[in-house]
Amino acid sequence: MCGIIGYVGNEDSVDILLDGLRRLEYRGYDSAGIAVYGKDGVSVVKARGRLQCLQDKIDAGERPFGNCGIGHTRWATHGEPSDVNAHPHCCGHVTLVHNGIIENYMQLKAERTAEGVVFQSETDTEVAAATLNHFYTGDPIAAIAKTVEAVEGSYALGILFDDQPDTLYAIRRDSPLVVGLGKGENFIASDMTVLLQHTKQYLLPQPGEIAVIAKDSVEMFGLDGKPIHKEVLTADWDAGTAEKGGYPHFMLKEIHEEPDAVRRCISPRIRDGKIELNIPGLPNETLAKTERIHIVACGTAMHAGLVGRYAIEALARVPVEVDIASEFRYRNPVLGKNDLVVLISQSGETADTLAALRLAKGRGIRTLAIVNVPGSSIAREADDVLYTWAGPEIAVASTKAYLVQLSVLYLLAVKLGSLHGELSTEKEQQLCSDLLEMPAKIQEAIDGEPDVLACAEELKNAQHVFFIGRGVDYTLCMESSLKLKEVSYIHCEAYAAGELKHGTISLIENGTPVIAVATQPSLYPKTVSNLEEVKARGADVMLVCDKDAKVEPDLTKNLLRVPNVDNILAPMVTIVPLQLLAYHIAVLRGCDVDKPRNLAKSVTVE
Ligand code: F6R
Repeated sequence: MCGIIGYVGNEDSVDILLDGLRRLEYRGYDSAGIAVYGKDGVSVVKARGRLQCLQDKIDAGERPFGNCGIGHTRWATHGEPSDVNAHPHCCGHVTLVHNGIIENYMQLKAERTAEGVVFQSETDTEVAAATLNHFYTGDPIAAIAKTVEAVEGSYALGILFDDQPDTLYAIRRDSPLVVGLGKGENFIASDMTVLLQHTKQYLLPQPGEIAVIAKDSVEMFGLDGKPIHKEVLTADWDAGTAEKGGYPHFMLKEIHEEPDAVRRCISPRIRDGKIELNIPGLPNETLAKTERIHIVACGTAMHAGLVGRYAIEALARVPVEVDIASEFRYRNPVLGKNDLVVLISQSGETADTLAALRLAKGRGIRTLAIVNVPGSSIAREADDVLYTWAGPEIAVASTKAYLVQLSVLYLLAVKLGSLHGELSTEKEQQLCSDLLEMPAKIQEAIDGEPDVLACAEELKNAQHVFFIGRGVDYTLCMESSLKLKEVSYIHCEAYAAGELKHGTISLIENGTPVIAVATQPSLYPKTVSNLEEVKARGADVMLVCDKDAKVEPDLTKNLLRVPNVDNILAPMVTIVPLQLLAYHIAVLRGCDVDKPRNLAKSVTVE
């Protein structure tokens, strides 16, 4: 949800900023812009549309020169995507880029307008620039501190002052920001992965900490102007993992990385047939006393939570509620003192999930985050974290992150099952050994890609696709439907197979594609009956089931078989062909798979 980058060093900043923006484009791509401090002061170039539009402007002669600059790629919130609403925004001495939302911008705008400021754009960011300029009297730290007091909302700001040459200033609250430490050069970015080709050393500013960045120094100050000492952190992701590595798209690369990601996530947490989660704040005694679990997340992460509910309730008999974070935070949930709130988030920055975390903590309820991005806000603020260790996920549509979220939820389910006395030692050992085999099974599912491609060819011109399933297969339908609609723009709906005849079946007509997911033997005949019902009304049906399922020869037009695994673990292999199906249909339709329209990877606004 908007990406920011900043550079100060000995190199020409423009190429470094543009390269950073290319890597950050997954965070938003409505417009892009840069501001560079050169010999004539600060120059700004910005353009509506993808980064290429900015690049075209620069190549056409608008190239600024200088060793210090800031850049921005936008996911529009206030004001339509346009050149004028693109960042950076300037007012007086100040030029800045912003990720987040200034909630009281209307009031601040009225105040500045009364003082004679004429605003060019409709953005809240220009109001932030005007507010900072209002407080600026030659002391950047004092002005930033006063601005922090005046503005409400979330922000990460990268700032240039026109009388402070070759110095970047940065501050954050509730939006991500890292300060990358190089040799004779330093950086700011929304995400450490974009800096990996320059440095692995970084600082994580906390809310209210002001970074003053020159090429040979980075100083941090509190809002009181006093210097702060920060620990230097080292990223353990390498630059190659943030590149496409020969794949045409990040989405495909990330699906192919699933076996490795799941292995990295699971194998260090299983020892001698037992799960070892090593959660300092959640010792076995506390987990054993957990009475109810609330899983809170958004989108794909919430769908992972739905699978987690099936697993935890089946294996541990601990009741689980799953909430969409944006609903949870406003529904005054009933939380008991022995409950555990589990937040799931790939980015660790999703605004609603973060707000849900704060709500639970505010009520004194223990929180556990399942997060991929190290050091992200949710990871830092939760009482405990289980990292998913999937490496960077760049494609906007989440794939491998879902698989590792499932992995952690299964580990938690087995652990709870054993601590709550629901699983025998033998059953726990069996599940551990099944979990250790999952990477190979997922690879087997990926190897079925040619069959998926054939199905994609058949579905590529569909206008609507319905997914039906029962039980945990229904949750897979929800995720498959989301995946297909977000990358291919085909209208998709997921239905509990038994619910279809209570209304939605009226939409089925000749040729309507219906995909049934039926991996659970106890529910298989029932889902097949529902498939027959839609087939009788003209639907083109496709079935996803395991290798042993008995399928009548003329039941379906298309059939995708997934590897046999323990029923409870079936989601981990079943989702793979459905992710691949979404990917291939989107490619066949000519869609921008890694950056679907209107979306952003990290949703840092509510
Ligand atoms: C869909 C997708 C989104 C995210 C959701 C939560 O493919 O990626 O639905 O799952 O925005 O994001 P995180 O996991 O970063 O909190």
